[in-house]
Amino acid sequence: MSAIRVLPELLINQIAAGEVIERPASALKELLENSLDAGAQAIGVELAGGGVKLVAVTDDGSGIARDELKLALARHATSKIASLDDLEHVGSLGFRGEALASIASVSRLELTSRRADERHAWRVTAEGPALGAPAPATLARGTRIEVRELYFNTPARRKFLKSEQTEFAHCEEAFRRIALSRPDVAFVLTHNGRVRLQVKPQPLAARIAAVLGEDFAAGALPVEESGGQIALRGAISAPAHARGTRDAQYFFVNGRCVRDKLVAHAIRQAYADVLHHDRHPAFVLFLDIDPQLVDVNVHPAKAEVRFRDSRAVHQFIFHALHKTLSHSAGETVPAAAAPAPAAAPAMPYYRSQGAMSLGIAQPAGAYAMLFAPPPAAAADTTTLSAPTPALPPSSNDHPLGFALAQLAGIYILAENSGGLIIVDMHAAHERIMYENLKSALDGRAIPMQPLLVPVHFAAEALDVATAEDEHDALQELGFDIAPAGPGALIVRGVPALLADADAQALTLDVLHEVREYGASRIATERRNELLGTMACHAAVRANRKLTVPEMNALLRDMEATERSGQCNHGRPTWHQISVTELDRLFRRGG
Ligand SMILES: Nc1ncnc2c1ncn2[C@@H]1O[C@H](COP(=O)(O)OP(=O)(O)O)[C@@H](O)[C@H]1O
Ligand SMILES: [Mg+2]
Repeated sequence: MSAIRVLPELLINQIAAGEVIERPASALKELLENSLDAGAQAIGVELAGGGVKLVAVTDDGSGIARDELKLALARHATSKIASLDDLEHVGSLGFRGEALASIASVSRLELTSRRADERHAWRVTAEGPALGAPAPATLARGTRIEVRELYFNTPARRKFLKSEQTEFAHCEEAFRRIALSRPDVAFVLTHNGRVRLQVKPQPLAARIAAVLGEDFAAGALPVEESGGQIALRGAISAPAHARGTRDAQYFFVNGRCVRDKLVAHAIRQAYADVLHHDRHPAFVLFLDIDPQLVDVNVHPAKAEVRFRDSRAVHQFIFHALHKTLSHSAGETVPAAAAPAPAAAPAMPYYRSQGAMSLGIAQPAGAYAMLFAPPPAAAADTTTLSAPTPALPPSSNDHPLGFALAQLAGIYILAENSGGLIIVDMHAAHERIMYENLKSALDGRAIPMQPLLVPVHFAAEALDVATAEDEHDALQELGFDIAPAGPGALIVRGVPALLADADAQALTLDVLHEVREYGASRIATERRNELLGTMACHAAVRANRKLTVPEMNALLRDMEATERSGQCNHGRPTWHQISVTELDRLFRRGG
């Protein structure tokens, strides 16, 4: 091993860049945040080549004094905090003083700035370790930063950059988040010389409509709630306007767009009664909280936060949204009736796949395939796919007994030696799928089933980008997804266990989750959540008529599945009513 030495400044910055500047979109985010911190009222973004060739941000903010230009590019140099105490009250978006230094270390960067009291602007140019002296330049009051040829000097990093479309999609999303966060500021975004989005200062509702489209705005319910040191405002989609995917979910904490599990949970919870769990609300919400009660310094890109009193925050969000949703109940179509096709008015909110089978018994053989165990375990589970309506054997090695009938399209009634068993068929099936997916993934990868007819559909640029970025991770999950042009995806294979699910809805949901949390976290912490999402897609819908052999197959599957007593949302999947209880009900016996 060589001797220990201190790394050169440039290399230190390049290492830091690896953490903070993952791609052009991350550079754009940092530059935009700097402009907002400088009090800008109008911000222009120019991109070329998806941001790889050029990211330029021009603002009309405070500007940087000539003597501080070089310092702005130095590592750990910031004007935003000076002490630990400042850090605990931080109200600015930046404070780590490393963004510009990191970006400058992996690109050709030019910084031009002019303060209000200066007669002309000054410019410094950084290329690798070299930093020129400030030279006079022209610029109106404010700052312009041009970042060219990102990663030109770190080829290993450059290799990870994706297509121009993909990188642009990520930039556009970063821009959208910032534009949503500050409706009082004007923004314009151009790519390769074409204007892609332009907004003037406007009320929040108008900004949301401008950035996310009239669709969202039309179905949005305003949220406005405050209490003590915390306030929540913004808009959420009415249940009837919920979506099949997790698009358009934006949550800002003190102006910063974050992903937070606790927040996501509170929102889901608020919608629990009014939304089937394969629909997703859209929302743009701003939580304002005393900066002392939240730690923003937990993640280099500040995409996560930590609340001091997370329970109180959860409760606050839940109640605010719950209130909004219950007030709106009269005005909007309840979720249960929402996407029901006109032809089937009695059909609740389940997918059309379920609607088509309403009242029609499925061929047992086809149904049994739904329950097919992962191929590895296929050999020892022959009972699962036995489609013949055989009489129940009289032996008592089946704790859940044998099916008698289906009730209300939801429950399976079965008899065992103890009495009556009631099974929630959707919850039970979901649990079984979930455990099967888990053990398939434990055995390295979920087996894929090629689709006879590949599914081709329009998708948002970001979904296309995720499919490209996370190709390997998706393959491991049993998906074969490829971009089919800038706004389309083609799915050629899905997890064999989920072969009967709606491939498009399933794919979009999975892409969203992978994108939201990153493939590496999906592989670890978020894995089970993702598998839960997938399982839900495959699980049999309520109102689907089952034959007795199908019901028995489900009971046998439940017995063979670990933890099948609860669905993966924690609800029980079955309940026993003993003969004694029934006797008591009918005042029989002693
Ligand atoms: N657009 C801008 N307008 C005015 N000052 C800026 C701008 N961008 C950067 N600066 C100055 O450069 C410093 C370093 O920026 P940066 O590296 O992003 O660190 P941080 O934002 O964490 O302070 C900032 O603290 C700020 O003083
Ligand atoms: Mg910054």
